Amino acid sequence: MLMDRFGRTIEYIRLSVTDRCDLRCSYCMPKGFRGFEEPEHWLTFDEIERVIGAFTRLGTRRVRLTGGEPLLRRNLPELAARLAALPGLDDLSLSTNATQLSKHAEALHNAGVRRLNISLDSLRRDCVHELTGRDSLPRVMDGLMAAKAAGFAPIKINMVAMKGVNDDDIETMVAFCIEHGFVLRLIEAMPMGDTGRAAHFLDLQPVLARLQQQFSLVPQAADLGGGPARYWSTLDGRFTLGLITPISQHFCATCNRVRLSVDGTLYMCLGQEERFELRPLLRAGCSDAELEAAIREAIELKPERHEFRERPGKIVRIMSMTGG
Ligand code: GTP
Ligand code: 5AD
Ligand code: SF4
Repeated sequence: MLMDRFGRTIEYIRLSVTDRCDLRCSYCMPKGFRGFEEPEHWLTFDEIERVIGAFTRLGTRRVRLTGGEPLLRRNLPELAARLAALPGLDDLSLSTNATQLSKHAEALHNAGVRRLNISLDSLRRDCVHELTGRDSLPRVMDGLMAAKAAGFAPIKINMVAMKGVNDDDIETMVAFCIEHGFVLRLIEAMPMGDTGRAAHFLDLQPVLARLQQQFSLVPQAADLGGGPARYWSTLDGRFTLGLITPISQHFCATCNRVRLSVDGTLYMCLGQEERFELRPLLRAGCSDAELEAAIREAIELKPERHEFRERPGKIVRIMSMTGG
């Protein structure tokens, strides 16, 4: 078992398989960004499998594939199948923007990916175009419907809610999620680099109060993921709302995760700089025991919490390095 200095058990790894993305969401990647990682620094599938294998031997049971946009990594279903076969791993999930999902949904499901989180911030085509820098809504819709047909469950919609941008779209999104059986998760934007800045910050606590009343939502205790969201459902169970509130009510005391970036760096916290580079070790031919010892050493570095609120300019790396 991996336990950090604050008594938190680390059993969930977010694995970024590429830092590239085909979209340019304003809260994630600055326009014209060019600082992508060199391909020779990308961990190979063999290297990733080794690292995740070491994590599972140390008690990790959940892996979430992230990016950038993970479906841009060639042969992702092959990697997914290799990870799904690791003893001890019982939850393999994916966070995607869904632009390429209609092509890959079935292969991913066959490979063992079960839970899917999909970014979608509005159902208005022009709003999505403006936010993502591309006219992406039609392809995202195709991806969503393909995912539903392939049998993923649950499918959650990640909506970063921003004042004056898409806050008027929340009720429409609720209706869409009820119609299709998707879970809706509202997310407060986190400031990273030049993105996610305070200008559009929307406190989700009043939004929750409004929706709770409108839809008679009651707290939902069922485990819908193991991530930081808190959930509420209608009594008939037809609609579930999740809230991710890193700014208005952070959840660091129950943090259970670390992140592995495409270049083999372990990031201990989304909102802090502590990190540990595994690639040099892997490429120097370390043993499994050395790899496991390095992971234990890395976990010792995990900080207590983020400081997005107190020091919003602190983290200068962009979101797509660590996959959110
Ligand atoms: P599940 O609970 O397994 O469904 O996953 P998740 O909600 O953790 O993953 P997802 O990739 O869908 O992330 C949703 C939002 O939560 C994104 O905005 C992430 O940046 C944010 N998030 C996920 N984990 C953390 C975390 O540990 N700390 C903070 N501050 N934000 C996180
Ligand atoms: N703040 C909050 N969430 C973000 N995401 C990307 N950038 C940010 C940010 N600055 C979300 C995306 C995606 C998830 C993996 O991370 O909406 O759904
Ligand atoms: Fe964990 Fe850091 Fe996220 Fe807080 S911000 S929940 S400590 S990763």
